[in-house]
Formats: sequence, C-alpha cells, structure tokens
Amino acid sequence: MSVDLLLGLQWGDEGKGKIVDVLTPNYDIIARFQGGPNAGHTLEFEGVKHVLHTIPSGIFRSNVINVIGNGVVIDPIILKKEIDALAPYQINIKEKLLISRKAHIILPTHRLLDLASETSKGKAKIGSTLKGIGPCYMDKTGRNGLRIGDLEKDNFLEEYRSLVEKHLSLINYYGVEIEFDLPSLEKEFFSAIDYLKTLSFIDSEDFFYHSQKQGKKILAEGAQGSMLDIDFGTYPFVTSSNTTASGACTGLGIAPNQIKNVMGVFKAYTTRVGSGAFPTELFDEIGEKIGQIGREVGATTGRKRRCGWLDLVALKYAIHLSGVTQLMMMKADVLSGFETLKICTGYRYKGEVIKHLPYSIDPEYVTPIYTELKGWNEDLSKVQKAKELPVELIEYIKFIEKETEVPITLVSVGADRTQTIQI
Ligand code: GDP
Ligand code: IMO
Ligand code: MG
Repeated sequence: MSVDLLLGLQWGDEGKGKIVDVLTPNYDIIARFQGGPNAGHTLEFEGVKHVLHTIPSGIFRSNVINVIGNGVVIDPIILKKEIDALAPYQINIKEKLLISRKAHIILPTHRLLDLASETSKGKAKIGSTLKGIGPCYMDKTGRNGLRIGDLEKDNFLEEYRSLVEKHLSLINYYGVEIEFDLPSLEKEFFSAIDYLKTLSFIDSEDFFYHSQKQGKKILAEGAQGSMLDIDFGTYPFVTSSNTTASGACTGLGIAPNQIKNVMGVFKAYTTRVGSGAFPTELFDEIGEKIGQIGREVGATTGRKRRCGWLDLVALKYAIHLSGVTQLMMMKADVLSGFETLKICTGYRYKGEVIKHLPYSIDPEYVTPIYTELKGWNEDLSKVQKAKELPVELIEYIKFIEKETEVPITLVSVGADRTQTIQI
C-alpha cells in the first residue's frame, strides 16, 4: 500500500496546507482529489506566506510531482493566477504539475450561477465562496460538464457555447438581479484556457496505477473538512464534494485497499466560515479572543471565521467516517493564556445525553455538554520538542486521545513550517 491521505476533520481551514508542505519530503507525489478554488491552503516558510487554491501543497518542494486529480473542479483563471504567483520560485510547472484530463472546468457562468443561487436564497444562503463550485459539480453529476480533456477536442468551443446557453437561461430562471459582462469574462477565461493548454494533462488514474506499481509514495491532499462533506456534513450548508476518505478513491481513481495511513488534521478549537450549525460556537469575548489570536480570517474570501470550543462529538464522527489512523492538532499556540479550556464531549438532544452526531445539530435540537480542562500560559511558538510542552497541554492532548482512541502524532504551534512538533 503506498497511498496516505490527509484530511480536514472540522469545517475546513484546519491547517491542511501547512502539514502537506511539512510532510512532502516523505513522498514522491502529492495529489488533490476534490474541491476547487473554494479552498485556500496556507503555507509559510522563510518569512513568506503562500496561499494555494487548486495547486497541491507540495509544489514548493523539489523532486515531487503534484497532481490535480479528476475529482477537482478547476477555474482556469484562478489556476493561472496561482501559477503566475509562483514565478519567483523557478518551479518547472510543466514537469511538476500534472492535471487530470477528467477534472471538470469551472466556466464564468458557473460563478454567475453560484451568485444567482445564493442571492435567490436570501437569508438561507449557504455562504458559498462564490467560486462556482456547486454549479460545476451539478453539471458534472448532471452529465453536462466540460472537462480538461475536452480542451484537446476540436469542438470545445461548440460545447462551451451550448453549456453557456443553458446557464444563461438558468440564471434568468432564478429571477434575481445580477450584473455581469459576459464578453469580458469570456476574454479572461479563454486567455487562461490558452495558457492551460500549455500545461501537462494526464490520464491520472493510469498514472496512479503505475506509480503505485513502481512503489512511489503518494499523499492525497483533501480540501474543505469532513463537516462540509456533501453526504455527511451539515447539509445543506456543505460543499458539493465528498471531503471524507472515500472522496480520495473516486477523486483520484485509487482503490480503497491501497490506502494506508489516514491523517486527520484538526484545530485545537473549532472554526467555521459561512452559514450552518456550529454547536460549540462562542458569541462572547472568548470567541473574539480566539479569532484575534488565531487570525481567523478566510484565506480565500477574507471573511471572518466563526470560532468555538473543540467539539469531540463532531471530531469522532469525522474520524469514524474516514478511518483516521493518526491525528494532527493545529494551532495549539492560540490557546495559550486561557485559564480554563472547554471540550464538548456530548450533546443534550431531545432531553437525552448523546455521544454521537444526530441527523441535525441545529441549535434547536442540540446543546453541547462540556468538560473543563486547565489552560496554560506559556508561549508555545518557539517550542521544538514534545517534552517542552506545558503539562496542561499534554493533559489536553491525552484527553483527546483517550476520547477519540486515535494517537495525536503532531502538534502545530505556529504557521511556519518549522513550528511543528512530532510526538
Ligand atoms: P487549510 O485550508 O486547512 O490549509 O488551512 P488555512 O490555510 O485556510 O488556515 C489555516 C491558517 O492557520 C493559516 O493562516 C495558517 O498559516 C495558520 N496556521 C496553521 N497552523 C498554525 C498553527 O499551528 N498556529 C498558528 N497560529 N497558525 C497556524
Ligand atoms: P479549505 O480547503 C473553509 C465553505 C464555505 C461555505 C460552504 C460552501 O481551505 O479548508 P462552496 O464555495 O464550496 O460552495 O461553499 O463551504 N467552504 C470552506 N470553508 N475552508 C474551505 O476550504 C472551504 N471551502 C468551502 O464557506 O460555507
Ligand atoms: Mg483554507
């Protein structure tokens, strides 16, 4: 078995990008398997912060191939901008970045449809990143989508036009006022398409099959988080792909029995951006303080992230869904300086205490039950060794390990690559 998975276990932004970058030297191939430019994966090293949306987070390390898998939806404009931003680093993009022919393309009208749909929902909006993710996956499952491989066919333009016609009538159907200038959007789109055509397209499932046969080590990089999974997340306030382990099989063409380690990344607390249930959300100064210290602002949209305590009911649910074999705890440094920390270990639900995630975790059904733990005051940002961690943090870690029955193998104490402690 030569494939490991790395997934977010909460509502996204757990710190997946940082950890993929840290682990990349152990692998030959890093592969994104779902989502698209709704993702914002942050990496920090040598004093520079990088945000990747579509490109896998192994791109900065030498001798590693990065693959955008078939399960990903690609906006050519955003991908081109991402590649442009890499220019100072002299990365051979044609050699190091491979794109699946079966990945779907986000058209400018997918973005418009996202906006029309969200506008028509009013207060009930999902809080989408408006990158056209939902509409693009709808075309994929509706069997109307355009894929990277279609760029190599002669009739791409014809197929594009016919899909855009459908989209325009759909936008009309929503009956909301949205302003757009299609010719100018298309100009930018086709210029990015021309650029995209110079990159390396592959039959990725075949590539992965042969890479595995050659004993290459593959790390599959998830986007979003388990609680945003289209099937298992807080529906309808979710994204439009499977963010859990199964998504890596369909999003790369890798057989389930090839998967070895499943690494689950979670923050020492919880955040969520966009609408939807969040049982442990804090509306007080503690939530504000976590948000400020943790700089909880979205990497893709710049929106403020909602903050709350760690929710072990939701975390265990995510662990079970993906068969997580090891946990990685991020942003432990942010929790320094709180006298008491709370961890949710159960929900009060319809008059009962439950330990599993019920069908709905909306506030009218669910009230979190907390265990309190002692906080710590030490600044962790310079800690390099597990034995230097404060005893209270060790207790916090042990508590989570006992509840989840999964070992925590890494603790992150800062955004930089080097602020990472293996335990
Ligand atoms: P991703 O989407 O899962 O890759 O996570 P994001 O990049 O959207 O959000 C994580 C944010 O936390 C980024 O700004 C990271 O630079 C930052 N970060 C990651 N790990 C740590 C950590 O251990 N401590 C602190 N303070 N920041 C971190
Ligand atoms: P990374 O990979 C956090 C959220 C949006 C919205 C919902 C649906 O950086 O962890 P969409 O644009 O997919 O239609 O939005 O999902 N969302 C994310 N939240 N991190 C992400 O990605 C997200 N991608 C989507 O805020 O609530
Ligand atoms: Mg993010």
